[in-house]
Amino acid sequence: MLRPPVFRQVRRAHTSAWSKNPQLDEIIRVDHAGELGADRIYAGQMAVLGNTKEGPLIQHMWDQEKKHREKFEELISKHRVRPTVMTPLWNIAGFALGAGTALLGKEAAMACTVAVETVIVDHYNDQLRTLMEDPQIDKEILETITQFRNEEQEHHDTGIDHGAEQAPFYQALTEVIKTGCKVAIAISKKI
Ligand SMILES: [Fe+2]
Ligand SMILES: [Fe+2]
Repeated sequence: MLRPPVFRQVRRAHTSAWSKNPQLDEIIRVDHAGELGADRIYAGQMAVLGNTKEGPLIQHMWDQEKKHREKFEELISKHRVRPTVMTPLWNIAGFALGAGTALLGKEAAMACTVAVETVIVDHYNDQLRTLMEDPQIDKEILETITQFRNEEQEHHDTGIDHGAEQAPFYQALTEVIKTGCKVAIAISKKI
């Protein structure tokens, strides 16, 4: 009774699209992780600042992040990419970062947004350069990343417009968050 399913599983691992294009796999894996983290960051900000004047603004950015996350969830199953093993950690770390900075005040929450979105915009731009060198370019991925890059840039600008730079220890705070994001990206590409 147990043999057929086991047999099917083994065959699938060898014949599926899995790892057909390792570079594309890496792009989808890390972006899925990033958008999951972003979703949790804004969830954390909303938990603290949801009932304040900034609530609707944060909700708008969060709604966009939810769509980004959904899209990469669709792509991860379409291309049969293994999600990063760090998913449970990014889930918690994202929320903690969002809520933690929001507890320092709305300016610190905006500084967090500026830091995260700066790294993400650079990261998406790097990916767009890589994708455009690929002769068998995946149009859907290219369009998705282009659209998301533009929306992340808007989030960054929103943060600046809403007092990010007035946050206490703005420079130090944003540098620490940027470094954390870069480390998370490097890890999520590989494992
Ligand atoms: Fe996003
Ligand atoms: Fe964003």
